[in-house]
Amino acid sequence: MADGGAGEGRPTRNGLKRAVEARLADAGIAAADDEARWMLEEASGLEGAELIAAGREPATHQEERRIAEMVERRLGGEPIQYVLGSWSFRGLDLFVDHRVLIPRPETELVVEIALEELARRGERRGASDPWTGSSSRYPVADLGTGSGAIALALVAELPDAEIWATDVDADALAVARANVAGSGALGARVRLAQGDWFTALPDTLRGTLRLVVSNPPYVARRAWESLPAEVRDHEPARALVSGESGLDDVERLVADGREWLAPGGVLVVEIGADQGGRAVAIARDAGYDAEVRHDLVGHDRVLVTHNKS
Ligand SMILES: C[S@@+](CC[C@H](N)C(=O)[O-])C[C@H]1O[C@@H](n2cnc3c(N)ncnc32)[C@H](O)[C@@H]1O
Repeated sequence: MADGGAGEGRPTRNGLKRAVEARLADAGIAAADDEARWMLEEASGLEGAELIAAGREPATHQEERRIAEMVERRLGGEPIQYVLGSWSFRGLDLFVDHRVLIPRPETELVVEIALEELARRGERRGASDPWTGSSSRYPVADLGTGSGAIALALVAELPDAEIWATDVDADALAVARANVAGSGALGARVRLAQGDWFTALPDTLRGTLRLVVSNPPYVARRAWESLPAEVRDHEPARALVSGESGLDDVERLVADGREWLAPGGVLVVEIGADQGGRAVAIARDAGYDAEVRHDLVGHDRVLVTHNKS
């Protein structure tokens, strides 16, 4: 069969991909090539080399239907991650939909910094071995877990930790629950709890947490209108906006964190590109040692605070 031609009137997968790419490009979507390939992969269940090998075969009716639905949603302005229904975060394939923020590369950096801080404290890091359980588990928290991205990335790298993943929003927590369930043996070390920041945690954890990580909402209310439409119209506002300054939730986390962290424990919080100075001042006023780390483009991105022993 000719590549891109039709077997019994049906387009090949390569032909379908080219048609999708052209429609996305016409609509001004910059990564039309990648997005068309991801849609084909999602619809066919074939990845990379498998899809290339099967490119000259006719697409199935089901693949065509699924792709038509995805293209329509994407052209309607929905983010590609929701259209695909999954997104990668530090190598984990996470289910995502409109109930949760789409995990961002900046947050991968937050996880990396949190892991470095724990390693500096002497905690063991590496892939967890499902055959060797540890009898000395220590607690860690991911507050405002959304899809569960941070919690699952941490549990994959901290073989001795038990991760508490919390969210105030029951709908978000349902997505995290699905991702924890899909993570196999790792999920056994993730505990999910609903509630307002630290109040979601059991009282027995007060003063015991060696690490707390959070990517809280940090957009100032007045900046909401200037967010890209793709974010504003599709991602949950509760995951993004934090009062007039954008720092209301950072302030809450910092203020309450001291009584939940173990002596010498670390609180690692994602912040906005221009919030470093204010965030450090809030943390130092609350009695922590604090510093800001920058992302790859040099923006303020992560507040790292140590609970003085
Ligand atoms: C910026 S999103 C981060 C989601 C996820 N951790 C990530 O990095 O992709 C913030 C999350 O905090 C949750 N959240 C907002 N206010 C909260 C509160 N008062 N207590 C706990 N979680 C809250 C939101 O529901 C949302 O899931």
